[in-house]
Amino acid sequence: MSIKTININSFDLSSIFWKKILDNSFLKIKPYQAEFFKKIDSLDKLRLQSSYNTGSISSTTAWLLFSIVLFFKPKIIVEIGSFIGKSTFSMALAADFYLTENSCDIFCCDYSNEIKFPNIAKTKIKQFHKTSSTEMFRELDVNLNIDLIHVDGRLEVEDCILLKEKINDNTFFIMDDFEGNEKGVANLFHLLNNNVISRAKYCVIYPIDNLVGKTYGLIEKSTTAVLLPIKFLKITSQ
Ligand SMILES: C[S@@+](CC[C@H](N)C(=O)[O-])C[C@H]1O[C@@H](n2cnc3c(N)ncnc32)[C@H](O)[C@@H]1O
Repeated sequence: MSIKTININSFDLSSIFWKKILDNSFLKIKPYQAEFFKKIDSLDKLRLQSSYNTGSISSTTAWLLFSIVLFFKPKIIVEIGSFIGKSTFSMALAADFYLTENSCDIFCCDYSNEIKFPNIAKTKIKQFHKTSSTEMFRELDVNLNIDLIHVDGRLEVEDCILLKEKINDNTFFIMDDFEGNEKGVANLFHLLNNNVISRAKYCVIYPIDNLVGKTYGLIEKSTTAVLLPIKFLKITSQ
């Protein structure tokens, strides 16, 4: 018998990934969705406090961030580019669901803004106001072991050097603006070219297909990709 292999490409894998993540949040938390979006939408008023009034994440991205955190239950989350906090709170509100079994701390920075976040989640959020990612990485505890990094800003080479000390084989990344030559794609190449991650150990989960999103009631476009350690993937018999 000649052995044939079944090739699963990154697009097939991405579709499986999003379905798994969304099935989990749909089954467990769907009744909470309206309250979640009410809290996330309330953050728009913080634009009045901004020094640099820029874009924020879509409602689909907010629910995807929530669903990813709910699924993987990271303990230490670091975010680059927090602005009005829609992404920060999407993750924090998910962590609120597992705080009793698993602690979670979020560290986030924004170099243009010093917006004080409201108290709408139980998860601890440490904001670094008017601070670049490089400065934040320098200030963070040397022994901090980051589980998840959400990148919605521009990574610098210096960040990559500092990051290497704070990540491990289980650290995964969420990259916003992952399309064309936007910052998400540039950030991936920064991580690869500066040996923060390797192609052998990580796979790219591409942004969710609009049609898949719509089957879960997610109407807006999302450009959020995930860099997932390959060891997180497992084939099971059922
Ligand atoms: C698209 S906005 C972030 C939106 C935010 N995630 C949200 O959900 O509201 C990008 C922000 O990242 C900040 N930024 C970009 N690169 C950064 C860096 N390397 N360090 C800190 N902040 C950065 C910008 O000042 C801007 O406010």
